[in-house]
Amino acid sequence: MAYPCFRTTLNLLLFLVLTLSVFAQTPNVNVTLGSHLIASDSSVPWKSPSGDFAFGFHKINDQKLFLLGIWFDGIPEKTLVWYANGDDLAPEGSKVELTLDGSFRLTSPQGREIWNPRSSVDGVAYAALLNNGNFILTDNSSKSLWESFKDPRDTMLPTQILEVGGKLSSRLQESNYSKGRFLLRLQPNDGSIVLKTIALPTDSEYGTYFTSNTSDEASPNSSGYQLVLDKSGHLNVLLHSRSVVNLTMGREFPAGDYFYRATLDVDGLFTLYGHPRAQINGRWGRTWFAIWSVPENICSDSNGDLGGGPCGYNSYCSLGTNRRPLCECLPGFSLSDTNNKFGGCQQNSLPNCGQGKEKPEDLYAIQEVQNTFWPTSSNYEMMPSLNEDECRRLCLSDCNCVVAVIKGGFCHKKKLPLSNGRKDYTTFGKALVKVSNSAVSSDEPSRPKSDTGNKNQTTSVLAGAILLGSSALLIFLFIVGVSLFLLQGHHRRRKLTRSSSILETNLRSFTYKDLKEATDGFREQLGRGSFGTVYKGLLTSQSSRNYVAVKKLERMVQEGEKEFKTEASAIAKTHPKNLVRLLGFCDEGTNRLLVYEFMSNGTLASFLFGISKPDWNKRIQMASGIARALTYLHEECSTQIIHCDIKPQNILLDDTFTARISDFGLAKLLMNEQTRTQTGIRGTRGYVAPEWFRNMPITAKVDVYSYGVMLLEIICCRKCLDMENENEEEIILADWAYDCYKRRKLGKLVETDEEAKNDMKKLERLVMVSIWCMQEDPSLRPSMWTVTQMLEGIIQVSAPPCPSPFSSIS
Ligand SMILES: *[C@@H]1O[C@H](CO)[C@@H](O)[C@H](O)[C@H]1NC(C)=O
Ligand SMILES: *[C@@H]1O[C@H](CO)[C@@H](O)[C@H](O)[C@H]1NC(C)=O
Ligand SMILES: *[C@@H]1O[C@H](CO)[C@@H](O)[C@H](O)[C@H]1NC(C)=O
Ligand SMILES: *[C@@H]1O[C@H](CO)[C@@H](O)[C@H](O)[C@H]1NC(C)=O
Ligand SMILES: *[C@@H]1O[C@H](CO)[C@@H](O)[C@H](O)[C@H]1NC(C)=O
Ligand SMILES: *[C@@H]1O[C@H](CO)[C@@H](O)[C@H](O)[C@H]1NC(C)=O
Repeated sequence: MAYPCFRTTLNLLLFLVLTLSVFAQTPNVNVTLGSHLIASDSSVPWKSPSGDFAFGFHKINDQKLFLLGIWFDGIPEKTLVWYANGDDLAPEGSKVELTLDGSFRLTSPQGREIWNPRSSVDGVAYAALLNNGNFILTDNSSKSLWESFKDPRDTMLPTQILEVGGKLSSRLQESNYSKGRFLLRLQPNDGSIVLKTIALPTDSEYGTYFTSNTSDEASPNSSGYQLVLDKSGHLNVLLHSRSVVNLTMGREFPAGDYFYRATLDVDGLFTLYGHPRAQINGRWGRTWFAIWSVPENICSDSNGDLGGGPCGYNSYCSLGTNRRPLCECLPGFSLSDTNNKFGGCQQNSLPNCGQGKEKPEDLYAIQEVQNTFWPTSSNYEMMPSLNEDECRRLCLSDCNCVVAVIKGGFCHKKKLPLSNGRKDYTTFGKALVKVSNSAVSSDEPSRPKSDTGNKNQTTSVLAGAILLGSSALLIFLFIVGVSLFLLQGHHRRRKLTRSSSILETNLRSFTYKDLKEATDGFREQLGRGSFGTVYKGLLTSQSSRNYVAVKKLERMVQEGEKEFKTEASAIAKTHPKNLVRLLGFCDEGTNRLLVYEFMSNGTLASFLFGISKPDWNKRIQMASGIARALTYLHEECSTQIIHCDIKPQNILLDDTFTARISDFGLAKLLMNEQTRTQTGIRGTRGYVAPEWFRNMPITAKVDVYSYGVMLLEIICCRKCLDMENENEEEIILADWAYDCYKRRKLGKLVETDEEAKNDMKKLERLVMVSIWCMQEDPSLRPSMWTVTQMLEGIIQVSAPPCPSPFSSIS
């Protein structure tokens, strides 16, 4: 197995491509009369002078169809921010033209007009794409005749203003630019920003699921009249009274230089996104990430009687992390459009009811879905004081009944289609869903389990795809590279050598004798872990004396030498700040040892659970550092590393008390794949994720779970299990913490810690993050990257559900 660094290769390619495109053409500043673009694969767009934005034809998937649009052009992801013809895509060969007589239009190869700026503009003297992403048509006195900023689609950019009556409209699907079900509007009558669902294909509006409350009926002069996204990414409503309502108030913006956009997303959330403007250390750290969004809970806020709601018909909505809706079909139903998880569900075929001799009760069975309910408007019967058995029986024998809900002492009988369903762990409602008798066992509720696939398989498939994809590109780039070399060879060579040296490791190979001497015959034991014993050692050379930690591996289930070396050097390649660095190894016969840098301040466990508690801010700093390091292991190094045994005993502290993760990578080194079953549970009691006990695939989410447990320990400075505790409810830290969170008594968790008590807001945020991490359902747990952003307050944390709902459907 090899460990090519895909990301570095990709970055290099990107760097070449970007450099290339800069050389290929200087940006068109003014689009003059007679200019045109033709829709084709090789069409070169018009660019803003800065190169940040481009206007031109964007190809839709693999079809020979094009969208005329504006996109971010300076970043790898060419995010569309405006599009002309979402409902009527342009075939190849279509032409957008600023005609000699001063009109602007998009026509098909047959001459059919596909789109023109709404108020059919004439007398255009020139067009230009400005640096802020606004495309303008101007007359000969430089008066603007039309601007894309004044005719928005689903996105606003910094400096863009939405006037009274103006609106944004979501797209239908991520890659279908037709009008979607959601609308944002600055209300003409009351000056509020509202989010609404609409009755497609018309513009007729249904219920409001968010309002900015910037209306003032008593004095209309103080109502809102403009929505502005300012240069630093703040969304403001300007009021006639000249005051400003800051919608993004209280959000902490990331430090540094970012692109911003505010988009009404496909799932109905109005979201402010940030994206770094430039690479850091030769990498695009991140793509778009959400900084702020409304509404707080789209599942419960959009609960009108009409329309499909955020999830479409016959599905139900539960709130994921970061306020996104998760949609699931009812048992016995499947997605109407398998590519669109927000598109609703349809019923799989059911035996006909009441037509044959068989009684309905014999044809059907009931499947339960906990904590799930619909607005009462979908009822056709509602009967008080029936118990669950009676309710179940009545629905089974009634041909009209598709679902019955037991809630608040009532039995609600419901008919199709069902809309605005939701699952909410804080509510006791139970849906009884009628399914075909023969399908009971196989008809599990369906949710795309996208991130629970076999990791190894996906990694290698991905790797293969990248290699295949890039080889064609490489040939092309080689040709281009030669000419590029002539232009700026010197500069490029410097770049190249720098990035390849990052790949090199100075992993040293030791003999057993070396290490025996260094540790004075394995005399001073530093600790014992699941993989072996660690000894203190001293390496001396002419120039230096360095303490090291030597780990003698015991349970070796491995294969050949070569793998050991490859794995070890793969581990050695990962050395960001919060990981314990591997310096060398020994591989002689049955002796396998790893040599690490020595961490002078012991483990996080002895620090946290010792006599004097470390201070609050130091603890928070450690928690963030560990989260960043785990993000690195999960997402950023060339091969994903799942740690599998995150706990304070495996976090070491260096001489500056910086927390560093140790023992990473060993899980893979020491275990073969077969041990990934229930019998081979790895990890430590109290920290292991529930997947280990079930027949579920093991993913990086097991580390997220353990991290959540450890985060609570860091917050409270106590162990996750405290069997000696007199208060029974405090024995299991996770349960106690959730309890305190629910009862708004978080102070109890940090009783003697004044600093933490005076920082309630942060305390609450950290506890909420840890509860999200400890969700029983791995798909509900955030990724480690999301955790880092939530800890820093960059991403909002929505109210977490109970980590282990009292009854789970799976
Ligand atoms: C674009 O064209 C207009 C009108 O001809 C002119 O006033 C303006 O200076 C031009 N802009 C640039 C940057 O060339
Ligand atoms: C600008 O356009 C108007 C009408 O199209 C025309 O009458 C006028 O002469 C033009 N001015 C210049 C300076 O070209
Ligand atoms: C987008 O969805 C609409 C409505 O379902 C459909 O008619 C149209 O063909 C879709 N467009 C694309 C590009 O898939
Ligand atoms: C607007 O007011 C309503 C009713 O008072 C309230 O429920 C809602 O949270 C407010 N929205 C905002 C954004 O303040
Ligand atoms: C609102 O503004 C208008 C003009 O700006 C003014 O005539 C009117 O008196 C104002 N009304 C109130 C209630 O302040
Ligand atoms: C809006 O709030 C942010 C902080 O949340 C602040 O930095 C910004 O200046 C505010 N904008 C206005 C116009 O008050």
